[in-house]
Amino acid sequence: MKNVLSCIQPTGDLHIGNYFGAVQNWVRLQETYHCTYGVVDYHSMTMPYDAAQLRENTWKMVFQLLACGIQPENLFIQGLVPEHVELCWILGCTTSFGELSRMTQFKDKGDLLRETDKEAFVSLGLFAYPVLQAADILIYRADYVPVGKDQEQHLELSRNIAQRFNHQFGKEYFVHPEPLFTETPKILSPADPNRKMSKSLGEKHYINLFAEEDRIRKQIKSAVTDTGETAAGEMSAGVKNLFELLRACGNMDAHDSLMADYNAGALKYSALKEATADTLTALIQPFRERLAELNANKAAIQSQIRESSAVIRQRAQQTLLEVRDLVGLC
Ligand code: AMP
Ligand code: TRP
Repeated sequence: MKNVLSCIQPTGDLHIGNYFGAVQNWVRLQETYHCTYGVVDYHSMTMPYDAAQLRENTWKMVFQLLACGIQPENLFIQGLVPEHVELCWILGCTTSFGELSRMTQFKDKGDLLRETDKEAFVSLGLFAYPVLQAADILIYRADYVPVGKDQEQHLELSRNIAQRFNHQFGKEYFVHPEPLFTETPKILSPADPNRKMSKSLGEKHYINLFAEEDRIRKQIKSAVTDTGETAAGEMSAGVKNLFELLRACGNMDAHDSLMADYNAGALKYSALKEATADTLTALIQPFRERLAELNANKAAIQSQIRESSAVIRQRAQQTLLEVRDLVGLC
């Protein structure tokens, strides 16, 4: 069975963009591949953060992923597998300063830091972030890495690092990981459908995956449908986004019949919004229930994930044993 590996930063709550754009796909891949998924807390230390908040967000992300259907034995917390950092150091010594300087996410995050806080500095951690990501991938011999297009450059770098390492140490040791760009929808902000749904834009721009029904209904009800800049005869971005949500939830009956109304010029936005809210809340209800169950067994679930991290760690340790030998450490 081929290995699939992907990771997510513990950003706090998952939103429906994360779910439809990534997590839903992760859940499905478990049927076909040997999957390993990480909550990458070391990565979240690369931007200013609060220590207690990081730990809380890491567990929060773990519980939410489990509630979505990630199997506990496939899930680990990166901080419980410190071999990632050792491999990052070793790989860092086969990565050039120049190629890291060209990473667009590094530049974007650096700009963001300087804009929001004049005192802030760009850390070595932020610069080395893509090497840590390469370590996450290579340490588990991942064949496929499901990621969004924004991670393409990091994946390319991981492949280059693997290739250079293999060449330098004279052995086809590391697998060359391939990105898996599955067709996942890009979910837009309900408040500004010209932008991607994202937590960083503020509360009204994302729909929390575990939000209460009332809140979801309100957010869908007030979703922007007409931005006033759509050419005649063209569907506006906001309306498209609602149709996309219906499709992502798998409610093709409602999608198709409302689309027929739209094509006949008879679509009522209120009907589209109601169908979208009904479909979303129906999808989310079981997730909410599962999350409540998991939270009721917090200590047991936490020790289960510590245990799965320990089992996954054994694979990382095996890789490090071999790598240390290859690179000449005693
Ligand atoms: P982030 O924390 O923003 O990097 O997102 C984590 C994962 O969710 C990534 O794989 C993204 O591709 C995916 N994602 C985030 N926002 C959206 C969105 N609005 N639509 C679709 N996928 C998204
Ligand atoms: N950099 C990824 C992101 O921002 C998260 C990530 C870290 C990752 N390590 C990874 C993704 C390994 C895939 C594989 O979304």
